Amino acid sequence: MKEVRIGVIGLGGMGTNHMRSVLLTPGAKLTAVCDIRKEVVDKVAAENKVKGFYDGEEMMKSGDVDAVIIVTPHFDHTVKAVAAFKHGVHVLTDKPIAVHKADAQKMIDAHKKRPDLKFAAMFNMRTDSLYIKIKNLIETGELGEIHRVNWIITNWFRSQSYYNSGGWRATWRGEGGGVLLNQCPHQLDLFQWFFGMPVKIRAFCQVGRYHNIEVEDDVTAYCQYKNGSTGVFIASTGEAPGTNRLEITCDRGRLIVEDGKITFNRAEIPVSKFIKTSTTGFGLPPIWHVDVPSGNDRMAHQKIIANYVDAILNGTPLIAPGEEGIKSVELSNAMLYSSIKDKTVDMPLDGKAFEKILNGLIKNSRFVKPKEQKIKNNDLSKSFVK
Ligand SMILES: NC(=O)c1ccc[n+]([C@@H]2O[C@H](COP(=O)([O-])OP(=O)(O)OC[C@H]3O[C@@H](n4cnc5c(N)ncnc54)[C@H](O)[C@@H]3O)[C@@H](O)[C@H]2O)c1
Repeated sequence: MKEVRIGVIGLGGMGTNHMRSVLLTPGAKLTAVCDIRKEVVDKVAAENKVKGFYDGEEMMKSGDVDAVIIVTPHFDHTVKAVAAFKHGVHVLTDKPIAVHKADAQKMIDAHKKRPDLKFAAMFNMRTDSLYIKIKNLIETGELGEIHRVNWIITNWFRSQSYYNSGGWRATWRGEGGGVLLNQCPHQLDLFQWFFGMPVKIRAFCQVGRYHNIEVEDDVTAYCQYKNGSTGVFIASTGEAPGTNRLEITCDRGRLIVEDGKITFNRAEIPVSKFIKTSTTGFGLPPIWHVDVPSGNDRMAHQKIIANYVDAILNGTPLIAPGEEGIKSVELSNAMLYSSIKDKTVDMPLDGKAFEKILNGLIKNSRFVKPKEQKIKNNDLSKSFVK
């Protein structure tokens, strides 16, 4: 194969963006587009002189595509990915790979039957040199053992009008979750990419704290790791200006990532050694202030698409294998589960148990077809906040 024929499924905000990225990617050829909105398909297909489909599976069966990019609402990712593997088509799915762990597992199982196909996830932040640098500092042992991590990611501000803009948004039935599932999959993916999976999670999620929505828009989660390290993950879509600050407390000091910069306050002597050897009761080890250089990135989504194409054509390893997407889904599910059950959750999460809870929320969801939707004031805010 010299060129990968790609079909984009879902021509909303992000799908249109990915379609443009395909057009810029060497080795990729946009051959088809798909959406359930027929007028959009007809227009986009005509503009780009490609085939238009109103049904994703028809596109996969057509013989017009080798690979798809799935950019539909969250619940649909599993349906489309499983169908694509069945029809022998490569998959790149946008985040989250699925709404819940059991669905993510279905995608992984479907892929296992076709290991010759590529399964990739759109975790574009993994291409950001800032985060690549942090991964590198951790993996090379530069930070020493990690003791505690705190990520405050509250600069995902969204207004009520954002939530009102799409019928599937911010409902259990339409979207399957709130800030954890829509805005935070990127940070949850990086959280596990850097620090691994915790063994316990205790979280407090508030639904509709700042917005008239039925899903969570404010989260505080505590994670505990096998070696005793701890992590706190805080997210919100209701704070302005909000914060994006990752603090890593480690044996070699403290690393702070904020405002696109990495600052390392490096202990000249490992802290664990200094605690044992210092003859003074209060003094700190000498600390060096280091501004860690990292690049300034653009075109993150296009890099993931280029890597997907390269993996198909040349076997290049994927930056974000689809299988790894189950971890951020599991973290998000476990945080919600802990909050709903008002208890600490042991990991790995029982995916079936979470699915059951989610199905209960979906049953009472107020999601209706976009044209009929009217957001009414109703007090869901106390539904599972203890
Ligand atoms: N990676 C990122 O940085 C990033 C950013 C924003 C959104 N996203 C993700 O992209 C996906 C889409 O989000 P969006 O903001 O573009 O939403 P959107 O509502 O703008 O677009 C979704 C599109 O999918 C279409 N669609 C719905 N069901 C379909 C089906 N069964 N078959 C074909 N088309 C269907 C809709 O008609 C719509 O055009 C979500 O998973 C979202 O989380 C990723």
